[in-house]
Amino acid sequence: MILVTGATGHVGGELTARLAASGRPVRALVRNAAAPPAGAEAAVGDLDRPDSLRPALKGARGVFLLPGYADMPGVLGECARAGVEHVVLLSSIAAADGDMDNAISRFMILSEEAVRASPVPWTILRPSGFMSNTFQWTAQLAAGDVVRAPFPTVPVAMIDPYDIAAVAARVLLDPAHHGRVHALSGPEPLLPADRVRLLGEVLGRPLRLDGLTDEEAREEMAADGTPPAYVDAFFRYYADGTLDDSRVRPTVAELLGRPPRTFTQWATAHADAFQEDHR
Ligand SMILES: NC(=O)c1ccc[n+]([C@@H]2O[C@H](COP(=O)([O-])OP(=O)(O)OC[C@H]3O[C@@H](n4cnc5c(N)ncnc54)[C@H](OP(=O)(O)O)[C@@H]3O)[C@@H](O)[C@H]2O)c1
Repeated sequence: MILVTGATGHVGGELTARLAASGRPVRALVRNAAAPPAGAEAAVGDLDRPDSLRPALKGARGVFLLPGYADMPGVLGECARAGVEHVVLLSSIAAADGDMDNAISRFMILSEEAVRASPVPWTILRPSGFMSNTFQWTAQLAAGDVVRAPFPTVPVAMIDPYDIAAVAARVLLDPAHHGRVHALSGPEPLLPADRVRLLGEVLGRPLRLDGLTDEEAREEMAADGTPPAYVDAFFRYYADGTLDDSRVRPTVAELLGRPPRTFTQWATAHADAFQEDHR
């Protein structure tokens, strides 16, 4: 049995569907029992309360684990107590900068430390920014053809959550990946304007980017409810340049024997989400 956390999210959802389709027993951790993912048995638990995970962990050999919860050592303790044989942690390329003053890097680093300190064998995945972050544009694209986005000059080698899930499924329960850290990226660096253009081609719409100034970006993020420490973290990465998320890495191809999916493939798979009536 493999327990997938974040099973209603982008990466965990892809992983749950992949494991279920391949016939591997999979259990989805959910906070709301009313919305279990298709193909998996559901178990209710909250990653912020490690002891609530006991029913979900019962009989689990592998765990796909999200980062950044209140007591990550406690979560790993519950995994060890349940006899889990392998934890695959979803971290971020941002963990590599070691910057404990950056709120996002900090929670990734602390999650990695908890995993490394655990007696349970582990693998850490450090992906670049997700193509699914483009869902942040759905409301704007329902209203019209202009996307207002921050950091218009910053390229990111965005990765499709589908590929992160494929890598997770590949390494889970494989002892050859114990103790290994895999940095993952998509196939090419993309500016926000590249994503707008490629998404427009897929949707058959004349989309246009309106890049936000740093001041406008701070205001929009605050208005969206992004916590101030995370707004500061994004500015350290992308305005101060502490994170280079543009590097294309060979890992997905090496692990899967095929190239990572392109943004056009991602956009085609998720075009329905952007097809709201915008006129
Ligand atoms: N976006 C990026 O570019 C990026 C890059 C690198 C790393 N990451 C990391 O990747 C992680 C997963 O991203 P994603 O896009 O797949 O996730 P997502 O779509 O944002 O979904 C988050 C998932 O976490 C679950 N969750 C939230 N709080 C929980 C709790 N207290 N206990 C149990 N489950 C909880 C949610 O379940 P509910 O249905 O119950 O809400 C949902 O399934 C992120 O959290 C981030 O740390 C993201």
